[in-house]
Amino acid sequence: MLKNYNKDFKFNIEKFYKDYLIGAKIFKNRDALESSYIPEELPHRDRQIREIAEKTACALFGDTPPSFLCYGMTGTGKTATIRYVSQKLAQQDMENKPWWIYINCNVVSTPYRILAHIYNTIARKEKIPPTGLPKDIIFKRLLGLLDQKVGNSICFLVLDEIDILIENKKAGNEILYDLTRLNVNLDVCKTSLIGISNKLKFKENLDPRVISSLGKESPIIFHPYNANNLKDILRDRANIAFYDGILKEGVIELCAALAAKEDGDARKALQLLRKAGELAERAQNKTISTDFVERAQLDLEKDYIKEYILGMPLQAQIILTAIYLILKFSRERNIVISGDIYGVYAEITQIIPGINQLTKRSISDYVNELALAGIITADTKSMGFYGRTKIINLDIDMKIAEGILRKIDKIKDILNYQPVMTQTDRVKLRNDVFKKLI
Ligand SMILES: Nc1ncnc2c1ncn2[C@@H]1O[C@H](COP(=O)(O)OP(=O)(O)O)[C@@H](O)[C@H]1O
Ligand SMILES: [Mg+2]
Repeated sequence: MLKNYNKDFKFNIEKFYKDYLIGAKIFKNRDALESSYIPEELPHRDRQIREIAEKTACALFGDTPPSFLCYGMTGTGKTATIRYVSQKLAQQDMENKPWWIYINCNVVSTPYRILAHIYNTIARKEKIPPTGLPKDIIFKRLLGLLDQKVGNSICFLVLDEIDILIENKKAGNEILYDLTRLNVNLDVCKTSLIGISNKLKFKENLDPRVISSLGKESPIIFHPYNANNLKDILRDRANIAFYDGILKEGVIELCAALAAKEDGDARKALQLLRKAGELAERAQNKTISTDFVERAQLDLEKDYIKEYILGMPLQAQIILTAIYLILKFSRERNIVISGDIYGVYAEITQIIPGINQLTKRSISDYVNELALAGIITADTKSMGFYGRTKIINLDIDMKIAEGILRKIDKIKDILNYQPVMTQTDRVKLRNDVFKKLI
């Protein structure tokens, strides 16, 4: 039983739901702002739609379309455009509708799992187990299944985020080569590969054998959207997603401008709009103003930083922890130099079980990565007598950093550890000298 239970502070859930129901309604169709939603129209993607339609149209006669690649940065509409064209093609009147097997290589990332995924998607029932069969056995079974089930139809194999597959150069090229050679071994069915890459340079890592089939056709390029393109995209989606009159002036423009600054990413623009809507809804506001977009931007940044830090290797997380602890416990809070990080890093690797100590060189590489990700700033300054050194500062709020680091099992218990180094006057003295020099 809670002893200090105070009735005045009891949250009235019944009243909350009632108020919510009669309160302002913002979303008419929330799903329209999801990244998986395929809109009726894709503004500013006419050229790409036409090129993909031209390359794949021969499937209407049962002929085999050539394999090809699509390139463009994230959020430029590659996945949406392919899905859009595949839907349109399926709606055409034809005897044998094509099959579309969609593989996201970020999720299905090993050669075995790719073959199993293709097989299982077609077979629906009798499945290939997640591990255990030799590759040539799955391959044989897949060939049999394609001929039997897909038969006279064309089977499009879409390898989305193919750049991730090829990060493992050997295995990636091997499976791509196998897939490009499916047709040679098939009796009736014909397959066509479509590779989608977020990285323009990914082709450099492909084997010549793979390029000769996947790269024969000219690739389809998706350029980043500019602010005006993004406005058109957002307006269409907002009309589906929100009730009339909900959006205040400037909201679409601000979302478009902010996303245009970040490589013209339509996903980012839609996320901002959706988050702004959710914040307005939570505040029980009747409209969405630009204030909510600004708050949405801050929220998304926080989410991004959190995801980024939690996804880093443990060693990088420990280096960030070292910076955090120095700032937390130094008497002069705002100056950290590389030497301090090496020292505190060495201390805390002693108290976390099972951690190897990195070389200064590797630590320095991680520090540079943290700076690139915008989590810290690291400026190299000349310190006169002390030589050149990096001055490091945390670029995110200390509270936010602590909240994120607390989520990491091996780190959560050392966030109150006061490094020996910060307990000596050495640091304070040097800080005083440095302060004068900066
Ligand atoms: N031209 C467009 N019109 C409407 N929505 C778009 C357009 N381009 C992208 N989107 C939307 O932006 C989001 C990201 O697009 P997506 O196709 O996933 O990008 P990519 O695959 O290039 O990373 C999706 O919600 C998609 O519907
Ligand atoms: Mg995509």
